[in-house]
Amino acid sequence: MKQYIEKNKERFLNELLELLRIPSVSADSKFKEDMKAAAAFVQKSMLDAGADRAEIFETPGHPIVYGEKMVDPSLPTVLVYGHYDVQPADPYELWNSPPFEPVIKNDRIYARGACDDKGQFYMHIKALETMIANDTLACNIKMMIEGEEEVGSSHLETFVTANKDLLACDTILISDTSIIANDVPSIETGLRGLTYVEVEVVGPNRDLHSGVYGGGVANPINVLCDMISSLTDSDGRITVPGFYDQVVDLSVEERAALNAAPFDLEAYKKDLDVGDVAGEKGYSTIERTSVRPTLDVNGIWGGYIGEGAKTVLPSKANAKISMRLVPNQTDEEICALFTKHFESLAPASVKVEVRPHHGGLPYVTPTDSVEYQAAEMAMEESFGKKPIPTRGGGSIPIVALFERELGQKSILMGFGLDIDALHSPNESYGLFNYYKGIETIPLFFKYYAQLKK
Ligand code: BES
Ligand code: MN
Ligand code: MN
Repeated sequence: MKQYIEKNKERFLNELLELLRIPSVSADSKFKEDMKAAAAFVQKSMLDAGADRAEIFETPGHPIVYGEKMVDPSLPTVLVYGHYDVQPADPYELWNSPPFEPVIKNDRIYARGACDDKGQFYMHIKALETMIANDTLACNIKMMIEGEEEVGSSHLETFVTANKDLLACDTILISDTSIIANDVPSIETGLRGLTYVEVEVVGPNRDLHSGVYGGGVANPINVLCDMISSLTDSDGRITVPGFYDQVVDLSVEERAALNAAPFDLEAYKKDLDVGDVAGEKGYSTIERTSVRPTLDVNGIWGGYIGEGAKTVLPSKANAKISMRLVPNQTDEEICALFTKHFESLAPASVKVEVRPHHGGLPYVTPTDSVEYQAAEMAMEESFGKKPIPTRGGGSIPIVALFERELGQKSILMGFGLDIDALHSPNESYGLFNYYKGIETIPLFFKYYAQLKK
């Protein structure tokens, strides 16, 4: 199989570059046709790889691509999940090369979606091709690649709930997460949940002259800033009443294991060009970014932001706020607690509205399962080192729903790196990681089939 990968290396890369040229941004309706083109590309590539069938399922949002290769009903069935949608590429001016014109530089592919998740799910299609071509496929494979992960997967939830038979499987395999370093393989055993809200503070019924009215009425931007700053205290704790009530604290042993993973604080600071890290008192950076919940403003606007000065007291101010959740917080409960608290913070001089966006539940998976062990063995063989279990800070909302609706855990065997700049300008994916993934995935199926016997 290694030989087959080596022989087809160029083509494997060129196909991915072709996919990366399609601007499949799910958040922006301007790209609706490109979303369709990307789905068609994925369908065709599944068929070209040798899938028995590959279909496009329309949804009220973007289409879902489903394909399968059923070898033998007596073999275990693995559902592979990924997403062909990408985050918006803005701000375009910060890219060193256009986001949808992939270039290879220093052994890395630069493009929006290079790692998240086109580069990663495409490894599965190339691994499938490799296994079929070499007649080594030891599992039945179902593949579901969706187009709305970056906007909350709401239509996929409906699809999964309505198609449990189609998606029935023994386990789920996902490559949409990261490893610690190319010489420090790891497997994420958890994901954080998410509550995302937009808030609006409204003061006077129109923009006002900031001299004529300034000092006499509440300025919604000032009020919003006060409200936001009161959401965390000086210890970095979130002040929303009840916010921590359901949080499962890790045992001393679990914390020690988590903190034993290699982490270079100086390199971390240097990479981000920050003088110091910040966060909840009493927790390490690893803990703060994986097993502790957070609250962050993702965007804030209001008033005049054009060139020069305009003396205006704005009528409105807005912000987008995300909260990352950990077991056993739920997005619904946290959203309700936040809304109640935020509304209660508003002085009588303004009106406040909280509008919930998407959410998702946190997720954890044990390391003593057959599927975790198969992933561990696969990575140990391909990297030459046993992978370390870590907890991820990001969210993949469908994973908790898979567990509830399909009754199966997901294995997060991702191959990205922190330096891949997901969601940022100049996103990239290492060629090493792309090919390492294609090499490792068939080993997962091999060991999984063996262990399941
Ligand atoms: N692939 C990421 C999540 C991720 C990245 C997990 C790195 C672990 C390590 C995913 O595409 C993502 O960005 N998810 C969103 C979820 C959201 C838009 C509902 C997130 O985490 O912000
Ligand atoms: Mn992703
Ligand atoms: Mn993403």
